[in-house]
Amino acid sequence: MPITKSSVILAIESSCDETSAAVLKDNKVYANVIANQTIHEAYGGVVPELASRAHQQNIVPVVAQALAQAGVDKSEINAVAYTQGPGLLGSLLVGSSFAKSLALGLGIPLIEVNHMQAHVLAHFIDEPKPTFPFLCLTVSGGHTQIVRVDDYLQMNIIGETKDDAVGEAFDKTAKMLHLPYPGGPLVDKYAQTGDPLRFEFPISDMPDLDYSFSGIKTAVMYFLQRQTQKNPEFISENLHDICASVQYTLIKTLLQKLEKAATLTNISQIAIAGGVSANSGLRKMMTEKGLEHGWQTYIPAFEYCTDNAAMIAIAASFKLNTEDFAQNTSSPNPRLAF
Ligand code: KG4
Ligand code: ZN
Repeated sequence: MPITKSSVILAIESSCDETSAAVLKDNKVYANVIANQTIHEAYGGVVPELASRAHQQNIVPVVAQALAQAGVDKSEINAVAYTQGPGLLGSLLVGSSFAKSLALGLGIPLIEVNHMQAHVLAHFIDEPKPTFPFLCLTVSGGHTQIVRVDDYLQMNIIGETKDDAVGEAFDKTAKMLHLPYPGGPLVDKYAQTGDPLRFEFPISDMPDLDYSFSGIKTAVMYFLQRQTQKNPEFISENLHDICASVQYTLIKTLLQKLEKAATLTNISQIAIAGGVSANSGLRKMMTEKGLEHGWQTYIPAFEYCTDNAAMIAIAASFKLNTEDFAQNTSSPNPRLAF
């Protein structure tokens, strides 16, 4: 177990449009409160200025609810953790300012956490936990990475997207289909009763272990333009098959490189993480690939796929162990890489 001494960590996540606070006590999640910001739906995407204002409104009640749910008093907290980046600068600033003030006020250590590293480390919240080394396909709205994980805090990106993230491809497809934001989960929902082989979309041909998702986005756009010119009802009449076919192409693209990475590294412990790891098609195909290749696969619980503070807390627990504390002065870094 990573933590040997008794500890209570309060963690805050505010990198995008979810305000979340979690309480981790002796390595166990006692609360993981998430406030979703519905205001962005009207704009078809996250509006940074509105996101940071909503974080300002949510942060105090979300933290209070997390502490109450965990039955923990402020005086019992040993460390405050927060998402340092990557993310929207205004959103990060709300979480970091709150965390810094609280740590300063309570006179306890402050721990900075990299958001993408936390997505990977979410695998250490529940059983079964992966052993090192393992590969993690980290797929979210802003990132698509294949990460080689050699230890809790020792990881390297061995492949990544050179343009759009796969979550963005899901969300943009949804937008073109006139579905509300965030559309990824809706594409998933309609895909479940559609034919994945009905329409064919291109798989990008990137070198090494890298990805590209801008091509498929453009291909879907031109495809829909052509089809709706011929039949204005094309989208509504074929929604399920379009979603299934696009999703199938995106997952096939993701898994092709993941298989290549497993072969190149000779690692057979394979995990997925990030918002898109909630996708039912990806979860199913990962399980199938595991059986086909003899992989040990790790698929996170739904509550730890999309943005949440529990993953920030578990990542912070490893830093608490090594006393890797932040100076309580720096400003957030929106483009931080690990
Ligand atoms: O990790 P996350 O919550 O936030 C970022 O760090 O970006 O990921 C959000 C992304 C969005 O693009 C959202 O549409 C996508 O994850 N997503 C899904 C599903 N659930 C969330 N995409 C496809 N299928 C899902 N079920
Ligand atoms: Zn995320």
